[in-house]
Amino acid sequence: MKKFSFVLLAFAALTLLASCGGSSEVPDHLSVVPNPVSMELGGRGAKTSAKVQTRIDPNLAPEEYILQIQNGKIQLAAGSEAGLVWGKQTLAQIQAQCGKQLPGVVIEDKPAFAYRGAHLDCCRHFFTVDEVKTYLDMMALHKLNVFHWHLTEDQGWRAEIKQYPKLTEVGSRRAETLVGHYGSTEYDGTPYGGFYTQDEMRDVVKYAAERGITVIPEIEMPGHASAALASYPELGCRGKDYPYKVQTTWGIFPEVFCAGNPETLTFLENVLDEICDIFPSEYIHIGGDEAPREEWEKCPKCQALMKEKGFTREAELQSYINNEIEHYLAGKGRKIIGWDEILDGGVSPSATVMSWRGAKGGIAAAKMGNDVVMTPNSHFYFDYYQTKDRQENGEPMAIGGYLPLRKCYAYDPYDQLTAEEKAHIKGVQANVWTEYIPTFDHVQHMVLPRFAALAEVGWSLDNRTEYEPFVERVEAGLLPIYQQRGYRYADYAFKGIE
Ligand code: ACM
Ligand code: ZN
Repeated sequence: MKKFSFVLLAFAALTLLASCGGSSEVPDHLSVVPNPVSMELGGRGAKTSAKVQTRIDPNLAPEEYILQIQNGKIQLAAGSEAGLVWGKQTLAQIQAQCGKQLPGVVIEDKPAFAYRGAHLDCCRHFFTVDEVKTYLDMMALHKLNVFHWHLTEDQGWRAEIKQYPKLTEVGSRRAETLVGHYGSTEYDGTPYGGFYTQDEMRDVVKYAAERGITVIPEIEMPGHASAALASYPELGCRGKDYPYKVQTTWGIFPEVFCAGNPETLTFLENVLDEICDIFPSEYIHIGGDEAPREEWEKCPKCQALMKEKGFTREAELQSYINNEIEHYLAGKGRKIIGWDEILDGGVSPSATVMSWRGAKGGIAAAKMGNDVVMTPNSHFYFDYYQTKDRQENGEPMAIGGYLPLRKCYAYDPYDQLTAEEKAHIKGVQANVWTEYIPTFDHVQHMVLPRFAALAEVGWSLDNRTEYEPFVERVEAGLLPIYQQRGYRYADYAFKGIE
């Protein structure tokens, strides 16, 4: 009988310890997302109020950090300022689940991929600087380190360019917006617009840098250019008298920049001069997706250029623009990255390819020796639905697709690649297209907690747990922070709804 009571007592004590609450004992686990490389619990911890002692250790890799909570002290060493940011995110998760008394623990951690991105389309719908900053905070919490800022589109040009004021005077506004899903014929009759001044964009760059995040701007070419052409119609194949308009509906439009007009390259280079001045990122995103070629087929200028260059396919005109722009940006020490359509007319070996139409473009590019960022719509399009029975589950309208948390989490960026080809996969990214996401609350609902799954693929990769323990870690480590900060999040996964 005595022995039995002892066992019961021991069991009760263990249960208490595991709860991480209020004692100096050792809990059996802590929940951190993304899952760290190693975590050793033990020893005397510290109180939350202990000052964090930070130091840069040049022996650590740039984003690597070591967090030690021991003997009343919290010590954080990292290979760079960014590494310190990531270590602090881990500490915040421990604090959120442990309260005042932190357990003794040593965490050694570094990312699997150098590129862990999140994209936001601020064109289909516009998000304020404060909202963009909140997005950056949400990214940093998940140790995501590249913000891909989609700034130009058919439905709105959002970046102030001083040499071309009409881009924002004309191109940042559309007359109205489609109501309902693609194919609807109803419009809201309400003018819609917005843009970022250069000072605002610089402010965003600075805010991001303080959180370990690089901002890559995207300037779309040669397609998704209606807003630019509404502003400067002479740059389109149909010329200055054609009534180009900032589009009011979604989709792919035939209006593209005229490849045969030398003014197009001058315009793009001048725009990129100002963009490079604002954004110090090594990469500049030049778009490249969904650019129909039917106007080029009919345009005398485009056809004359094809003849001059000996091109046999219009796709080569897109490669011509890409190569010219790549050369121009190289002169400024920058590199181009573009959507996987940049492969179509032949791609230079130094271009980086963003694979979005599944992984096949990325796989082909890696096999050719190009660097790749994997953003396959099969796993990382966060504008897709999150559950199967979306009506029953009350999901807001989305573009389509079906991308539950479990599927994001299971993504393998190295699928079908040899060891040599794997070295070309620089990382992963989620894309958030906002045709059907009109508010920032809604953006948050689409990305949280899917950011957590993206983060585990990008940071932890082979160190991921099974899916169910992952969801438990998100609930214990991240959810309290989402709630503290008032982030909107989708709770389907926590209710077991897929
Ligand atoms: C894309 O989704 N059009 C890159
Ligand atoms: Zn043309």
